[in-house]
Amino acid sequence: MVRRALTGLVLISLVGCAGSGSSSGGSHPSRSTTTTAPGPSDPYYSEAGAGVYDVGHYDIGLRYSPDQPAITATTTITATAKRNLAEFHLDFSGLTIDQITVDAAAAGLSRTRTDLTVRPRRAIASGATFVTKIRYHGVPRAIADPGDASDDPTRIGWTRTRDGRVYVVSEPIGARTWFPGNDHPADKATFDIRVDVPDGVSVASNGTFAPTPGSPGRYTWHWTMAQPMATYLATVVIAPMREEQTASAAGVPIRNFFPPRLYDESVTDFATTGAMIDYFSTIFGPYPFDAYGAVVLRDEIGYALETQTMSIFGSDMLGTDQDAEDTVAHELAHQWFGDSVSIRRWADIWLNEGFATYAQYLWDDHVDPAFDINLEMAKLRAGDERHLTRPHNPGVEGLFSAATYERGALTLHALRLTIGDAKFFELVKVWTAKYRYANATTADFIALTNEIAGQDLTDFFHRWLDTNQVPPLPKSLL
Ligand code: ARG
Ligand code: ZN
Repeated sequence: MVRRALTGLVLISLVGCAGSGSSSGGSHPSRSTTTTAPGPSDPYYSEAGAGVYDVGHYDIGLRYSPDQPAITATTTITATAKRNLAEFHLDFSGLTIDQITVDAAAAGLSRTRTDLTVRPRRAIASGATFVTKIRYHGVPRAIADPGDASDDPTRIGWTRTRDGRVYVVSEPIGARTWFPGNDHPADKATFDIRVDVPDGVSVASNGTFAPTPGSPGRYTWHWTMAQPMATYLATVVIAPMREEQTASAAGVPIRNFFPPRLYDESVTDFATTGAMIDYFSTIFGPYPFDAYGAVVLRDEIGYALETQTMSIFGSDMLGTDQDAEDTVAHELAHQWFGDSVSIRRWADIWLNEGFATYAQYLWDDHVDPAFDINLEMAKLRAGDERHLTRPHNPGVEGLFSAATYERGALTLHALRLTIGDAKFFELVKVWTAKYRYANATTADFIALTNEIAGQDLTDFFHRWLDTNQVPPLPKSLL
């Protein structure tokens, strides 16, 4: 039940990617005018994201063959300028750019290890929609997880296995390893992802899909993510896989992609997905997307990730014990908390992980008559307090830690005990409805809670979220 806590990690700078250099220009981008500020200037990853434009849509088309590590790709980004732009930044690492145009005219380009500065032939007027098309190729390289300072850090981004399979897990800033973009959850966009692969391998990605025959012996898997999605949730998994198509009793389509040799046990691991979708829909509000599913890797990656509509599970997260079911519930709950309602800055990660962790307990409470949620929460509260530090603004190294997962869940349980079930579950539903497909902050959550509870809980939240001492759980009213 207790999810792997990445504790004891310290902040490190990103390991550079073996860049193959830019083809047009090589000078340093100018940072001299305010229009080039990378904003939203998230203090956790100051190099990622841009605040001066708003991406509406990404169209990513790429070609891959398992016998070669390189890809050829074209990403087309439709965005709206928030101010006059003489130039703008995109996050992108390592691949060679063959051509870049803005509104069909060749654009100037300079780059660093982590980003591109694009200079359109003509400045873009504030409010204008513009289309940037980037053709590129090369061998994508995963980068070190910035929160992991160990000798063998977790890698994020495009990852190719020795036998030619590919998976992408990007949280928090790995998206730039395979497509140029505005790599921050504050700028969500819809996606088309088209992957051209040989017969015999499947492509799992986000949204809904239709494989269409391409050149002889190849298929293009066209995936469409019609609701806004943060860049870190975009994925492709390219591998021989066997598909399972089902639906929840209430009718939400489920399509799972499993490694052929793990098919039977995976079917068992995910047998409760439909019931979970339907139960969570009753307490969190309607499932926010057109379909759901799981993709199981053969690889042990030490975690699972809530990639929108298609959660990814390392093979080490599964197995027929209770923990696997908790992980399945956790990633599904993220579709509401994290994916549909997204954070505006990484310091608010407890809004994702606290809710997803609490959802595991809500599921257990729903299906297991012997489960006592108060007892389980009291046990969690009794855990090692040195790890239960403040969930809000936990630092880059604390993003995926007991502070955000466990104390995040404890905060929600304490809130529930304080305001009562009726108001707590009303709050949850209004939260997912009010911020559906959008972004929200801890301050937004506190404001909505105060409104629904009809009392000022600022001090309650301060003690639970911003101090390193764990408050006592309120006496149970459940
Ligand atoms: N959000 C994921 C989950 O809770 C965990 C991601 C861990 N990522 C990482 N780079 N260590 O399911
Ligand atoms: Zn999580």
